Amino acid sequence: MKDFILKGNICYSKNKKEINTLENSYVICVDGKSKGVFSEIPDEYKKLTLIDYEDKLIIPGMVDMHIHAPQFAFRGMCMDLELMDWLNQYTFPEEEKYEDLVYAEKAYSIFAEALKNGATTRAVIFATRHRYATEVLMDLMEKSGLITYVGKVNMDREATEALEEDSALMSAYNTFGWINDINGKYKNTKPILTPRFIPCCTDQLMEELRQIQMTYGIPVQSHLSESPGEIDFVQFLRPDNLFYGDVYDEYDMFGKNDEENTEVKTVMAHCVWSTEEEVELMRENGVFIAHCPASNMNLSSGIAPIRKYIEKNMKIGLGSDVAGGHSDSIFRAITDAIQVSKMYWRYVDMESKPITFAEAFYMATIGGGEFFGKVGSFDEGFEFDAIVLDDENLVHPQELNLEERLERAVYLGLDLNGIKAKYAGGQKMW
Ligand code: GUN
Ligand code: FE
Repeated sequence: MKDFILKGNICYSKNKKEINTLENSYVICVDGKSKGVFSEIPDEYKKLTLIDYEDKLIIPGMVDMHIHAPQFAFRGMCMDLELMDWLNQYTFPEEEKYEDLVYAEKAYSIFAEALKNGATTRAVIFATRHRYATEVLMDLMEKSGLITYVGKVNMDREATEALEEDSALMSAYNTFGWINDINGKYKNTKPILTPRFIPCCTDQLMEELRQIQMTYGIPVQSHLSESPGEIDFVQFLRPDNLFYGDVYDEYDMFGKNDEENTEVKTVMAHCVWSTEEEVELMRENGVFIAHCPASNMNLSSGIAPIRKYIEKNMKIGLGSDVAGGHSDSIFRAITDAIQVSKMYWRYVDMESKPITFAEAFYMATIGGGEFFGKVGSFDEGFEFDAIVLDDENLVHPQELNLEERLERAVYLGLDLNGIKAKYAGGQKMW
């Protein structure tokens, strides 16, 4: 069913700083897209099926701009190290297991089920470097009803022997094979090119990926300026580049292909320690930033200067970064983003005002949604992703307005057991 009307208390971002809240209103979906929110049903839509969610909240689905599916298995564990040691000691050994398709199917089924049951309707996902396990994950994501980008990871150095690909050429060969295998197979699941990060990718591999990107025109995801140890290592490996992001840019995987003057849709996770030059190039090239506050705390990476990115009008969304982040909840990422911005203000820069709930909510919906097109709002023309929240059990003695109810639902984690219905791309998921 792609044409219907939902009735309830509707909340969505009006702009970056304000939330629209409409009591007892109607949001209309036709052919998978919103026709807008109305206080009365316009005559032309009166014949559509109406689903009345009564006093519940109806909000856009959450967008997770950065999550590692194979790391879901060890979320909430192994949180005692910084990035590079955490990768070597915990993450790479876990990811090695995805050579085994039986393990992959088991672990990825648990991941897909969790995402299906949560508030996330769209996600940009890292798999592992294993081609066939990545296809298993894509099959499961398609079945879940979520709308996702999934990347087979590329990595040909600086990992464990079992996890490194044999050569840049083998990595490229398997990437071609993977893209061809899944070509035309899915409606909601798309491939994304995924060089893990510069420490794990030789120059030759980056050149191969540049060619693949040009051949297929697919988007790119990676990590950038996350942790001091990582950044020092990139400087050692690539002494001639001006800054970390300059390496991705050299291989035309940083928002733009300079030679052909074409857009290369790119999302970079973290950007905690980006230099002014790096920030400027991201802004110029329209690179998306996936802000992952929980991961940045757990791995002691630092606090990303999000106020600065917002004021510069950069493209920015939120990521759970499981398992650097311990939870796949984007409600949780919203509250974490607000909280770390307060610590940044207090400890780092008192000119940098903390972000507001409305700003964080915008990042979690339209901010990340833009990576998928017109996503994250109920304004006319946006693809229809929605979740219905029942906050009845969060009893309160005082009158609350809708914005207060929404904020409370997010802070108190109502996505854990308060979601009553979920829609993605105009399809009811459950
Ligand atoms: N940098 C390279 N790989 C990873 C990863 O798996 N997680 C995080 N947080 N950073 C990375
Ligand atoms: Fe990550």
